[in-house]
Amino acid sequence: MTLREILTSAVSRLTAASTPSPRMNAELLLMFTLECDRAYLHAHPERELNAEEQGRYDEALAERVRGVPAQYITGHQEFWGMDLIVTPAVLIPRPETEHVIETVLRLASAGEGPRPASTLALRIVDVGTGSGCIALALAKELPRAEIHATDISPAALEIARVDAARHQLEGRVRFHETDLLQGFESNAFDFVVSNPPYVGESEEDQVQLEVRKFEPRQAVFAGATGLEVIALLIPQARSVLKPGGSLVMEISGTIAEGVRGLLAGWNDVQITNDLQGIPRVISARVAKLDPVSAGRSRRAVRAE
Ligand SMILES: C[S@@+](CC[C@H](N)C(=O)[O-])C[C@H]1O[C@@H](n2cnc3c(N)ncnc32)[C@H](O)[C@@H]1O
Repeated sequence: MTLREILTSAVSRLTAASTPSPRMNAELLLMFTLECDRAYLHAHPERELNAEEQGRYDEALAERVRGVPAQYITGHQEFWGMDLIVTPAVLIPRPETEHVIETVLRLASAGEGPRPASTLALRIVDVGTGSGCIALALAKELPRAEIHATDISPAALEIARVDAARHQLEGRVRFHETDLLQGFESNAFDFVVSNPPYVGESEEDQVQLEVRKFEPRQAVFAGATGLEVIALLIPQARSVLKPGGSLVMEISGTIAEGVRGLLAGWNDVQITNDLQGIPRVISARVAKLDPVSAGRSRRAVRAE
């Protein structure tokens, strides 16, 4: 079969299975099978596929028809301009999570006068790192920062380490297998960053079937309401943040006001919407020590 014929038949097969964006999926899986780019597909419509190529394409299509996300078939997803390896051990990084990176970079620059964020020796911890997408994007953008990343899933951390190595960032991010921020000392970080599980089991029916069937459950669901993991994370973040440090988390519209309520007593609580106008990132700051109490606590330390 020629490339044109096989693509036409793949689009019909995916359409019949109600796969979203059938042409895009058919092309993506053919690019994966032939290890080529889209320009090649369009430039060589008469190219014949050999039996081995047809067999591999057929297998990839069968997986997609079964509902397996294309990223788990190809093993790749782009995030913040980086090609990341993904397996069913990790959540597929979403474009909206890039707003978390933008928020951290904006807050890091704010208040630093003319110093660009890239020159700052910040200490940052990414909680629930999954593929490592947030920690690695921040490591790339903030070359002087010390970055830690945690996950409760050893399988996810294995993928994050592979991704760090592929981008020569393995020396920049320290990975920890732990529950949220257990084991970290207090007053240690300028930023706690997280895209935690935040979907409530009560909303399960509204979650895409592909997500429910194929993405790791403990990456998506937090408990009955969706606030359970965040409710544990907020006090732990408060403890590990330095005075003036910030917590930046991905959220959804459903839980935005609930999270705001849990942040009572924090300063500068701000919610940023994503490109669809949905509340997507919440940030909040621990109060800075005022100069009087800062002086008092310095004197107390000297007196010990
Ligand atoms: C929504 S995914 C986010 C993954 C990645 N940071 C991203 O943005 O694509 C949540 C991650 O939190 C991890 N996780 C769930 N509960 C956790 C806990 N109690 N402590 C640490 N990590 C946890 C999951 O294994 C998963 O990798």
